[in-house]
Amino acid sequence: MTRPLERGIDPIFINRWSPRAFDESGISESELLQFLEAARWAPSAYNAQPWRFVYARRGTAHWQPFLDLLVPYNRDWAQRASAIVFVLAAQKFTPEGAAEAIETGYAAYDTGAAVAYLTLQASISGWHSHIIAGFDRDAAKTLLKIPEGYAFESAVVIGRQGDPSTLPPALQERETPTPRASLEQLVAEGVFTFK
Ligand SMILES: Cc1cc2nc3c(=O)[nH]c(=O)nc-3n(C[C@H](O)[C@H](O)[C@H](O)COP(=O)(O)O)c2cc1C
Repeated sequence: MTRPLERGIDPIFINRWSPRAFDESGISESELLQFLEAARWAPSAYNAQPWRFVYARRGTAHWQPFLDLLVPYNRDWAQRASAIVFVLAAQKFTPEGAAEAIETGYAAYDTGAAVAYLTLQASISGWHSHIIAGFDRDAAKTLLKIPEGYAFESAVVIGRQGDPSTLPPALQERETPTPRASLEQLVAEGVFTFK
């Protein structure tokens, strides 16, 4: 067991993990939008909601061009997934009543929270997801027609878990939920006591 708990928590948190073996299932737009609906409810500074998502589903005209944006290491396993969602953060936000847009300084932080919600909902709904940073940002900006003022934060590969034997041997060995540092290594009362 790679995920022993130190405290009782809802199992949704440890059930979510990031496999690389997917089974080439298709995904309906409605299922995918359910995961993005969860992302929509994340908290953000000023409630600015800086996250933006641009997706492609397997079996559509967008799929292969999206897949081609990934670095070869990621493309090799993501080709058997069901959807790729590129995640962007708006760099500026205009508060209500303000004349000028401001940088909240938290766009990346907020967008990470939205992605966490997305991945948890996918897991709750019986799917798996794998966040990736390995893709060509310049090519993605051109293909997806991203205007100025938005930054790529990550992409999320979503699919149904598949047979690990579809992966190269080195990745087969890693096809298992990862452990975590202990609470003691991460949490202190009152004073920062970590090494
Ligand atoms: C911002 C970010 C970028 C990542 N980039 C990649 C990637 O390019 N390729 C990859 O295989 N995994 C990538 N990962 C997945 C992590 O390695 C994985 O989430 C981590 O090992 C924890 O495992 P778990 O998600 O199974 O709990 C990325 C994760 C995050 C949050």
